[in-house]
Amino acid sequence: MKFNVLGNKVKVLAVIGAGKMGSTIIRAVKKYSNVEIIATGRRDVTLHAAEKLGAKATRDNDYAVRNAETVVLSVKPQHFPVVAKQVRKSSWEGKIVASIMAGIRISTLKSVIKNAEVYRAMPNINALVNKATTAIAKEENLSKAKGKEAVEELFRCLGTVYWVPEEILDVWTSLAGSGPAFLAEIVDALVLGAVASGMPRDLAYKAILDVLEGTAKLLRKRSVHPAEIRDEVTTPAGTTIRGIMVLESEGVKAALMKTIEESYRRSVQIGNEIDQYIRRQLGL
Ligand SMILES: NC(=O)c1ccc[n+]([C@@H]2O[C@H](COP(=O)([O-])OP(=O)(O)OC[C@H]3O[C@@H](n4cnc5c(N)ncnc54)[C@H](OP(=O)(O)O)[C@@H]3O)[C@@H](O)[C@H]2O)c1
Repeated sequence: MKFNVLGNKVKVLAVIGAGKMGSTIIRAVKKYSNVEIIATGRRDVTLHAAEKLGAKATRDNDYAVRNAETVVLSVKPQHFPVVAKQVRKSSWEGKIVASIMAGIRISTLKSVIKNAEVYRAMPNINALVNKATTAIAKEENLSKAKGKEAVEELFRCLGTVYWVPEEILDVWTSLAGSGPAFLAEIVDALVLGAVASGMPRDLAYKAILDVLEGTAKLLRKRSVHPAEIRDEVTTPAGTTIRGIMVLESEGVKAALMKTIEESYRRSVQIGNEIDQYIRRQLGL
């Protein structure tokens, strides 16, 4: 049964930039609600695809923003200055605006989008299978956040949601945004190890995905430190301890810690570059 996940206040949602993420959001919101969606894009192919998903499609960003209560900004960050110039300042008034554009700070968005509630959300690629892990940050001095619930419900359509201070979004981008790529690399390495030990690749691949899912479920359910699960599996002079000795001697744990740290540093760097670029383009 469908229900209005965005609350009764939101009747129309505008998705500015119905690309990969934008169309994933349209699909997810349509699945759970009867909210009307106005989607925008530049090319015919983008507009037709959005229509197929049940959205009203247009190239007119100003029309979309003006006619919606809630707006998702899902163009590439470098395309935001064009959108900002296309939408009249008055059209943003009173809107709830959620940007998923990587790197553009809330303060920069607020310089353009005045008299509106602005949120920054960072979903990840797992949205494609309804398992996104999304962090959302709100404006610091937002006293009466009328759109908080609607924004949370919107991203819940894609998976799980966590509220974070904006400064956490950079490390979030490396942990949850790049996380699926890091885990995919680890899966690949474990599969190759099994193949080297004589297991057919297909079987090893299916098995390790089950192990990954099952371990996540176990860790969540038991709610204990991961080391406790490790110790439960580690029998004296057994197979697990031999493997752990290799992980330790090869510095795998340290390498994974550095992976997140290095990726975080790059995330900060890119964020600064993007934000400065947007400010220059918009004369802020
Ligand atoms: N992909 C991810 O996993 C991911 C995760 C988190 C956040 N994000 C963020 O999500 C945003 C979108 O990423 P994406 O991967 O979905 O990119 P994408 O597939 O390129 O989608 C962007 C869409 O924006 C449209 N667009 C560009 N300029 C426009 C304009 N002036 N008016 C209306 N539409 C316009 C494009 O339309 P046309 O196709 O017609 O040119 C395109 O469909 C980015 O800001 C990114 O930082 C992405």
